Amino acid sequence: MNKLPAIPAQRLPELLRRMPKAELHIHIEGSLEPELIFALAKRNGVAIPYASVEELRRAYAFTNLQSFLDIYYAGASVLITEQDFFDMAWAYLEKARADNVVRAEIFFDPQTHTARGVAMETVIAGLHRACVKAATDLGVSASLILCFLRHLSEEEAFETLEQALPWRDRFIGVGLDSSEVGHPPEKFARVFARCRELGLHLVAHAGEEGPPAYVWTALDLLKVERVDHGVQSSKDPQLMRRLAQDRIPLTVCPLSNLKLCVFPRLQDHNLRELLDAGLMATVNSDDPAYFGGYVNDNFLQTFEATGLSAQQAWTLANNSFEASFIGAGEKRKYRDRLDEVFAEFAE
Ligand code: ADE
Ligand code: ZN
Repeated sequence: MNKLPAIPAQRLPELLRRMPKAELHIHIEGSLEPELIFALAKRNGVAIPYASVEELRRAYAFTNLQSFLDIYYAGASVLITEQDFFDMAWAYLEKARADNVVRAEIFFDPQTHTARGVAMETVIAGLHRACVKAATDLGVSASLILCFLRHLSEEEAFETLEQALPWRDRFIGVGLDSSEVGHPPEKFARVFARCRELGLHLVAHAGEEGPPAYVWTALDLLKVERVDHGVQSSKDPQLMRRLAQDRIPLTVCPLSNLKLCVFPRLQDHNLRELLDAGLMATVNSDDPAYFGGYVNDNFLQTFEATGLSAQQAWTLANNSFEASFIGAGEKRKYRDRLDEVFAEFAE
């Protein structure tokens, strides 16, 4: 949109809810709500060390990334059958639809499941079935991104890739997640090079808790197309210039950063600084069942806390389409829909 229509300030929250958006940083295992954890534990006869949904929710008080990951991996242990993976993804996709997410690029962590004896086929089949149904029944376009766990070895990442290749057409890319500090991107340079040869899209978590150096090596050694989080980049002015010049998208997750104590308060989040420096930032939920909100909650609470404007809302939504792995025609279609919604909200 060349010139954005003036939007009355009191209508901004409704606009944030209504505007079409892409979600590019959502771990499907992080969308597993406590209620579904308990239902699946019962269905599968899996014991969980919490007496109730409320007790489990009370355990969601994190001090850093690792304190969260310990609980997140334990929660995922209730997923056993293809139907479990479908049910988890479907629950997320219905919430995405309600938040006017029109495109979702969904991370999954196969090693969390294959290590427990669940077959790769079971994981991918259930998630893929939900993605196909979302297109027809919800009008949400959804694709999968397979993440390697960086606390494990590169050899294990190669094994995981081999196990997944029979279903190569069911995921569009690979990512890198789990414990960041001490596991720099360069540990996975060879497996990412192989994925690049296979024509997979490449993304990686970098600069969540880890230093700007990890963002540099994600770009230069892994050759990622997007950086997940990347918020620590603001500590390195040269890196900020590089990210702006090369239009490298950052998939920022404000409520995650708050809950994992990356920033002490939401008011202290650096999203505005990233946007002001010309970076292609986007807003995402990361692990919404654990961090207190889905993508619209991230928009609403961050705008409220930091005073971002309607213009910045448009930029963030437009960035989400620009940064997604869809074709140019689809990007244009979603941008047109975005402009239509903004026009409806004009004074
Ligand atoms: N896995 C799930 N959520 C994650 C996060 N925020 N950082 C790293 N790995 C993750
Ligand atoms: Zn993440």
